[in-house]
Amino acid sequence: MAITKVAVAGGTGNLGPAVVNALVEANFQVTLLSRSSTHEIDSRVKIQVVDYNSLDSLVTALTGQEAVVDVLPSGSISVEIPLRLIEAAHKAGVQRFIPSEYGCDTSHPLTSKLPVFGDKVTVVNRLKEISAQDSAFTYTPVITGPFFDWGLKMKFTVNLSGPSTPIYDGGDTPFSTTTLAGIGRAIAGVLEHPDETKNRYVYVSQAEVTQNKLLALSGKTVEREDISTADLEKKAYEAVKLSPPDFRTFAVNLIRLAVFNPAYGSAFTKTDNELLGVHKFSEAEIVDLVKQYS
Ligand SMILES: NC(=O)c1ccc[n+]([C@@H]2O[C@H](COP(=O)([O-])OP(=O)(O)OC[C@H]3O[C@@H](n4cnc5c(N)ncnc54)[C@H](OP(=O)(O)O)[C@@H]3O)[C@@H](O)[C@H]2O)c1
Repeated sequence: MAITKVAVAGGTGNLGPAVVNALVEANFQVTLLSRSSTHEIDSRVKIQVVDYNSLDSLVTALTGQEAVVDVLPSGSISVEIPLRLIEAAHKAGVQRFIPSEYGCDTSHPLTSKLPVFGDKVTVVNRLKEISAQDSAFTYTPVITGPFFDWGLKMKFTVNLSGPSTPIYDGGDTPFSTTTLAGIGRAIAGVLEHPDETKNRYVYVSQAEVTQNKLLALSGKTVEREDISTADLEKKAYEAVKLSPPDFRTFAVNLIRLAVFNPAYGSAFTKTDNELLGVHKFSEAEIVDLVKQYS
């Protein structure tokens, strides 16, 4: 199975441009699916306007494509959208579907039970069902840990510019993390190695870090707000009982629980970095990246 034609759904957001760029650099023929034709994109990329609520629109857009990379948001959009995209990909004869994962290991027994990942689990279950019935349709979820560069920029993993940062369970939980460009490379690597990555999760990690390590490497003195992941979890469920419910706090707290509580498998025991051509950072490269966001 060789793949050259790839459609990217949602390639204009936080992660998407790095994915589109990596695919173009790896010489794939990329079609970007978007709700609008007004995005500024690389001249080597074709843009295809779609209606995610219309199966016909998606089947038309995906006819002739060999792979679909879903980088649409998850949780904040109806799960019917990725499910429709999968149905359309199958109808159009697409060989490989990469679902919108790119974070915590949703195949982990504890992580998979967190409601914030419910839609991701539903999507992979549907992919498993279709591929079991039709061996020509295959899938690969890509697990990356929290975005390394974007996570620092958005102060999601740790706030290195202060004045204070939340530190979870003491700050020594190791977690795997990957940059946006590293995730793009991983996706290109999956499509370059379709047989080795068929119908299985792949794991990539450019660094294993802890909050305390990131703080130490930054050389910054930032005030610590110590918070337990048990408290994060409690506050997540309190947030959805509010009127109106605070879904953002609910989601962010449960994602942080999965990253910063070691029971949720956020430090990967093995990775597919080598197969997929994902570069593992040296200590000096980690320091360089941390300094950019300190
Ligand atoms: N591990 C991490 O740290 C981390 C962080 C953030 C995200 N993620 C994951 O990465 C994936 C992509 O997230 P993202 O933040 O890159 O997505 P995003 O920027 O929120 O959205 C990506 C694109 O999806 C399209 N889109 C947005 N809302 C839509 C809607 N209601 N209906 C249809 N299309 C819509 C838009 O493209 P058009 O306007 O061109 O249609 C948008 O540019 C998700 O699975 C997310 O969970 C992981």
